[in-house]
Amino acid sequence: MPKLTIHAGEPGPVIDRHIFGHFAEHLGRCIYDGLWVGENSPVPNVRGWRSDLVAALRQIRIPNLRWPGGCFADDYHWREGIGPRDRRPRRINAHWGGVIESNAVGTHEFLDLCAQLGCEPYLAGNVGSGSPRELREWVEYCNAAAGTLADERAANGRREPWKVRLWGVGNETWGCGGNMTVEYYAHEYRRFATYTRDFPQAPLYRIASGARNDDYHWTDVMMREAFKGPLGGPLLQGLSLHYYTVPGDWPPRHPATGFDHAGWKWVMALGWKMDDYVRGHRAVMDRYDPAAKTSLVVDEWGSWYAPEPGTNPGFLHQQQTVRDGVLAALTLNIFIDHCERVRIANLAQTVNVLQAVALTEEGGGRLVLTPTWDVLAMYAAHHDARRLPVHSDAGRSRHEGMEYPNVSATASLAADGAVNVTACNTDPAAPAELTLAFTGRVPAPADARVLAAPVLTTCNTYDQPRAVTTRPLAGVRVNGQNVQLTLPPGSVAALRFA
Ligand code: AHR
Repeated sequence: MPKLTIHAGEPGPVIDRHIFGHFAEHLGRCIYDGLWVGENSPVPNVRGWRSDLVAALRQIRIPNLRWPGGCFADDYHWREGIGPRDRRPRRINAHWGGVIESNAVGTHEFLDLCAQLGCEPYLAGNVGSGSPRELREWVEYCNAAAGTLADERAANGRREPWKVRLWGVGNETWGCGGNMTVEYYAHEYRRFATYTRDFPQAPLYRIASGARNDDYHWTDVMMREAFKGPLGGPLLQGLSLHYYTVPGDWPPRHPATGFDHAGWKWVMALGWKMDDYVRGHRAVMDRYDPAAKTSLVVDEWGSWYAPEPGTNPGFLHQQQTVRDGVLAALTLNIFIDHCERVRIANLAQTVNVLQAVALTEEGGGRLVLTPTWDVLAMYAAHHDARRLPVHSDAGRSRHEGMEYPNVSATASLAADGAVNVTACNTDPAAPAELTLAFTGRVPAPADARVLAAPVLTTCNTYDQPRAVTTRPLAGVRVNGQNVQLTLPPGSVAALRFA
C-alpha cells in the first residue's frame, strides 16, 4: 500500500494565500454578462456586480483578482474607464472577438468588486501601447492622497486612496504585449518601474512580464538586467510565468468533456510540466537572488481546450470535469512545493473563460460552479498555513514521454493547530489505497471530503448543477500514527486532523 509520510512536527515556510488568486479579463463573458450584469439588471447585484457570483468567490476566500488582462491590458487606457459611464468611449476589443467594449467597468467599478469580494486587486498596466506617464498617472490616481489626480478621483466618487499594492508592468511582452525581445523589454521595464511611484503608505509590488513555459533565457535576462535597482534593492518584486495545459496543437482542439483515459493522462502529464518549469525558473532566479526577495508569480495558468460547440471561439468558453479538478490540485501542490519562491498565482479565468470556477447562462441566467471551485474551496485550508514536509512512495506514471505522480499531496499546519492534508489520485481507472503515516503527532479523527465522479466526463450543468461536487470520504481509519484511506479513481480529497 503506497505511503505518504507527513512530518507534522516540522512546519516549514508559509503558503502565501495569494497562490490561490484569480484573473478576470475583458474577454468573452468573464466581465460583461459574467461578473458584471449592470445596476439595472433583474439579476440580483450590488452596484452592478452579480451577487451569487460574489458570494461563491467569497466562499473560496479569493485572495486577489488580476484585471483587466491578459492581452486586453496592453490595449487598455484607464482614463477611458472613469467618469460618467454614458460618456465613456466605446472601443473595439481587438483581441477577443472584435466586440464593443463599453468601458462600463473601469477602475472604480473593479475596485468596488474587490471590496465586495474582500480581496486584493492586482492591476495589470499597459506597456505595449501605453507610456510610463500613463501608468504612473494610473498609480497616482489610485494611490495618492492629494493633488489633481486625487481630486479627480474624489470628484468621481472616491475620496480615500485605494492604496493598490499589486501592479503588473506589461503582460506577455514577448507576444500580444508588444512582441518585444527580452533584452528590449528589460530596459523598458526599468523605465516603467522607475515612474510607477510609491505614494505614502502605498508601496508598490511591481510584477514584470515574464516567460512562458520553459523560456529560461527570458528569466535570466530579466534577473540580470532588471532585478537590481539603483540603490541595490530589487526593482522588481515579482517576475511572472505563464503556462497553460493545452493538449495538442494550437488552436486548442481537445474536448473539455468527451475524452478517454488517454486524454485524461495527457492532461495530467502536461499539467505536471508546470513542476519542471517552476523548478527551472526558480533555479535561474536563485542564482541572482538567493534570498528569494523577488517572487515567481504564475499569473496565468489552467486548462485550455476547444471552445464549447456553438459559442464564439474568441470567447474561450469551456466546460469542465473532475479532470480539471485534479489538474487544479496537482498545480496548486506544485506551487505549494515551491512556496519559498512562488508567492502569487492566478487561475485563468474566474468565470465563463478557460478553467473558470463558475459558468453563467447567457443573458444573466443561472449560475453553476465547476469542479475547480470545489478544489479551491478545499485548498482554502492551506491559505497562510505552514507547509509540512510530505514524502510519497506512490510512484509515477508516464504518458507520451512525460512523467507525473500517481498521488500528489500537500500538508499544512494551520494557525489553530489543525493539520490539513489534500491529496489527489491521478489514475483515471484504479483507486489509490493509501496510508498517511504521521511523524511528530498522533492524528485525531479526521473530517474528510472527496471530489470524485463515477463517470469521469460528467460535468455540472444548469439542470444538474452539483453533479460533480465533494462528498464525505467514507472508510477513513485511524490507527495510532497511521491513517488508512482509499481515494477513488481520478479524485481529490481533503482531510482535517484536529
Ligand atoms: O487568458 C487568455 C490569454 O492568454 C491572456 O489574455 C493572455 O495573456 C494569454 O495568452
